[in-house]
Amino acid sequence: MNRRFVAVIGGAVLALSVAACGGEGAGGGTEESAAPEDLTIGVSMPTQTSERWIADGDSVREQLEELGYGVELQYANNDIPTQSQQVDQMITQGADVLIIAAIDGTALSSQLQAAADADIPVIAYDRLIRDSEHVDFYVSFDNYRVGVAQAEALLTGLGLRTADGQPGDAAGPFTIELFAGSLDDNNAHFFFDGAMDTLQPYIDDGSLVVRSGQTDIEQVAILRWEQETAQRRMEDLLTSSYNDGSRVDGVLSPYDGLSRGIITALQNAGYGAAGNPMAVVTGQDAEIASVKLISDGVQNSTIFKDTRLLAEQAVVAAEAFLGGEEPEANDTETYDNGVKVVPSYLLPVETVYADDIQPILVDSGYFTAEEVAAGQTES
Ligand code: BGC
Repeated sequence: MNRRFVAVIGGAVLALSVAACGGEGAGGGTEESAAPEDLTIGVSMPTQTSERWIADGDSVREQLEELGYGVELQYANNDIPTQSQQVDQMITQGADVLIIAAIDGTALSSQLQAAADADIPVIAYDRLIRDSEHVDFYVSFDNYRVGVAQAEALLTGLGLRTADGQPGDAAGPFTIELFAGSLDDNNAHFFFDGAMDTLQPYIDDGSLVVRSGQTDIEQVAILRWEQETAQRRMEDLLTSSYNDGSRVDGVLSPYDGLSRGIITALQNAGYGAAGNPMAVVTGQDAEIASVKLISDGVQNSTIFKDTRLLAEQAVVAAEAFLGGEEPEANDTETYDNGVKVVPSYLLPVETVYADDIQPILVDSGYFTAEEVAAGQTES
């Protein structure tokens, strides 16, 4: 609750200390006694097709502007060359810090080299940037835990496990299918690993059966996290593996957009109608359309990641760099980007079932009750 307040105090302290010491920050453009008003933070986001990135961009911008910084916020339309170009431009225009949520975590090495040459600190936002030593900090959530939580929700929805982690009443076997995110997104691997570590014992003892046999991440990944691609894959799975009158009981889905594509495919095949219950479908991000589906009993659950808190950590890290300091990490082991372990600040996540919408999403002001009922946000 007071975290934003702390950030504001941090900003005031920074302005004072920079003025008092005449110290130069880590940012190349940081002049002696630079005030926030004289500093610009470049913020590069992947796409506006998913609500979560719009919320992230808005939160980062608002929080930086509240502290007086100039903000250059760009969305790259999920197009890698566009993102590279936008980051290049932020560098040539003299950004003092870069905050980047990469589309393809391996595609920004030359931009990061240019940033390092200009002494501009780079903060990887939610998605780790790989294959470069010039990633200075990483802010994200506990991504392995997201996958565990998704798998636990699937097991709970099927009745193999209770919500508090005890063995459930059901014995199975249940049929399931697996989906993963985009292979070029480091997070997709963490989500899938967390989920599979949790599901594997049930697959091994026969209580879960992946009827298609597709259990490798390469087989189940959805490029760029596209909803339509997920819908098509689910349609293909229903045709290829469930055309003998059998049902798919559950679907591991790592992101609400994919979940909506999967649910559409299932509904088109008659799931959710009388006598043919909807399969248990998981999700992530608490997108408003999916929160409504959860509230209506169509989607099982989502994993809530509070983008306001993530934005705040990015802002705190940016301020640390501008003050010539290293941001405080709470994980210095997990995120090896292929060249180095990037110091990270990871936030916790929460599973949201229908009963959790009010206490977790509405009471915290993330959505209003009206937005949940309408399935869309007001702005
Ligand atoms: C994020 C998820 C999001 C996915 C698709 C991942 O990198 O961590 O929150 O669902 O991208 O946008």
